[in-house]
Amino acid sequence: MKNYERLFSPLQVGSLTLKNRIVKAPQSSEYWLEGQMITNRVIDLYEGIAEGGASMILVGAILFQPAEPELPFLFGGLSQDRHIPGMTELAAAVHKHDCHILAQLHHPGPAPISTTYTPLASTTLTVDQLPLDYLAPTHGVTTEEIEAMKADYIEAAVRAKKCGFDGIECHSANGYFLMSFLSRAWNYRTDQYGPQSMENRTRLHREIIAGIKERCGEDFVIGVRINGQEFGHPKAMTPAEAAEAGTWFERAGAHYISLAGYGYGKAPFQYVPDYWPYPEPDDFMKPYVKQFKTGLLVPSAATVKKSVGIPVIAVGRLDEDLGEEILKDGKADLILLGRGLWADHELPNKVLAGNREDIVRCCRCATCEDPQDGPRRCRVNPALGREKELAITPAPTKKKVLVVGAGPAGMEAARVAALRGHDVILLERSGHLGGKLHLAAMLKGTDFDDVTTVIDYLSRQVQRLPITIKTGVEADKHVVLANKPDVVILAVGGNYVLPEDIPGILNRNVEGVASLARTAERPLRMLGANAVGKLSNIALPGVGKRVVIIGGQIEGLQGAVFLKKRGRTVTVLEESESLGGRMPPRYIKRTLPWLAKEGVEVLTGVTYDKITDSGVDITLKDGTKRALAADTVMVLLPPGANDRLKHEIDGDVPEVYSIGCGNGVDSSLIINALTEARETACKV
Ligand SMILES: Cc1cc2nc3c(=O)[nH]c(=O)nc-3n(C[C@H](O)[C@H](O)[C@H](O)COP(=O)(O)O)c2cc1C
Repeated sequence: MKNYERLFSPLQVGSLTLKNRIVKAPQSSEYWLEGQMITNRVIDLYEGIAEGGASMILVGAILFQPAEPELPFLFGGLSQDRHIPGMTELAAAVHKHDCHILAQLHHPGPAPISTTYTPLASTTLTVDQLPLDYLAPTHGVTTEEIEAMKADYIEAAVRAKKCGFDGIECHSANGYFLMSFLSRAWNYRTDQYGPQSMENRTRLHREIIAGIKERCGEDFVIGVRINGQEFGHPKAMTPAEAAEAGTWFERAGAHYISLAGYGYGKAPFQYVPDYWPYPEPDDFMKPYVKQFKTGLLVPSAATVKKSVGIPVIAVGRLDEDLGEEILKDGKADLILLGRGLWADHELPNKVLAGNREDIVRCCRCATCEDPQDGPRRCRVNPALGREKELAITPAPTKKKVLVVGAGPAGMEAARVAALRGHDVILLERSGHLGGKLHLAAMLKGTDFDDVTTVIDYLSRQVQRLPITIKTGVEADKHVVLANKPDVVILAVGGNYVLPEDIPGILNRNVEGVASLARTAERPLRMLGANAVGKLSNIALPGVGKRVVIIGGQIEGLQGAVFLKKRGRTVTVLEESESLGGRMPPRYIKRTLPWLAKEGVEVLTGVTYDKITDSGVDITLKDGTKRALAADTVMVLLPPGANDRLKHEIDGDVPEVYSIGCGNGVDSSLIINALTEARETACKV
């Protein structure tokens, strides 16, 4: 077993003794209610993380002033006394597990949080003066407004103390209010808070720190989070500036400095909260992308650490291995984990117990960053924010559970059912576990959004648990009934059929998901998605130089990126008017401009006339006819439902459930497949 001696060594932060170096990063969960009131979801989330072994939790995005109610679930609050009972309950729940808790006090500042919100910053900036071209003009705060905000800030800290919080973190990072004083890209004031010196740029923070110290005493911990490095603007914060700011905060009595990052670029560049480099990094980020593997912001933490004596916190796609190395090299004192602890609250305990292979790894998919359907969700942890509801508890009655299909949904259902004490059989038609996820992983690539971790984790778990796994078995009604199950969970995958109404669809030059999966199955099984993805840069057997893709939703657009990167001439055709369905917003925002830049023609409102040996004939919505030349026509349409077996066995088995892609397009993403699996396996 590897040695994580430093990661699990204690550290003094102000008055607090932390039992290890793993700190939960502040992350706005978006599980709050109108008026920034707390919910049980918030309490269960943080209690779960505390129980999982982190030494300190920073609760993100707690407003020190009330916000207008348009998006009620976004923020927590300590702006009024009515927040005290709920926040007291939260602090007590975390403290039960030998874990400290700090409230990160927040104001969105220039961030575009809603249509009715007036962005606020250090300086009034017109659209032309803004460092980012997709934000709204800002109102620069007056001296009177600063005084009022300071008073509210300090009152919120006093409330945090009353609630039992161990301290507060002053949020001056990313693109939010206090950052707009610290960063010269935003601050054009001419008064004592202006950009002329670091003394001025840090003045407001230091006045706040002094006020909190006076009211809450020395033992109340105060941390400051700043951008250790900003990218893509001539006045962007540098690590050296962050280090200078750190010395001012240290002198003001801050107990730690935590480093984050930010970037400025033309839309659709997006840095907050994490830089998203798909399909390709922006030019000015290219020199930094290789640092993703060692921690993009670690160099800034190391620079700050050289200048201050208080603990320094590093962040950004870190894990236990990188964390131990960073501590060993003296680049930081604490390791901040955000998404990693959302994916698996138990990460610290599992590392400590030597069970690293049981850790569910975050794949950096960006699903949590821009939820499309309300509060945050995690692709790989369906229980995020539903900790109690989807807890894995012993089943009241042991049943024989037959799971059909060993893709992600089937494996998750089998895993959870087995952990609950059921007698589980898992049947898989192909020779290996993971279903079409291997193909998806190859298409997406593994550099920035690594789905292979899901396959590895689930395959390992089902093989370790007392589950009878039978591969190479085609489950028909006869096979199912012969097993005499009490419960059948069908995770049979979607129906990737070729659209028969297109004349010529059975031509030799047409490939579909099913035929691609068949071609790739052997190499994927033998070499894995990562290696096959790399080899496909050299050779893509059966795929010609010119490719027309039928389908402009997630499948088609990801396929287009994959093929374009491999030198193909690509055209994407979509029958409807909408593109990129089921892609996280930042994914689609970056993908469409990239395809345009790369000369990939994307046509919507297309009617398919026929497929010929030389390509695809189409009619556009204005009646124009076009003949698109293609050596290969690739059908990458969303999957249809696959309910044949369900109909065959319904009524013959006491309980039958269908989960995942077999339920059709709305269940086709991993996040939905895993959620349906967990929900089903928790109730049988
Ligand atoms: C969904 C989400 C919400 C976040 N909210 C906050 C926040 O409220 N305050 C903050 O300082 N950082 C926030 N962050 C940034 C994280 O604290 C952290 O810096 C980032 O996730 C990188 O760390 P990781 O790779 O361990 O996730 C957020 C990140 C994510 C993904």
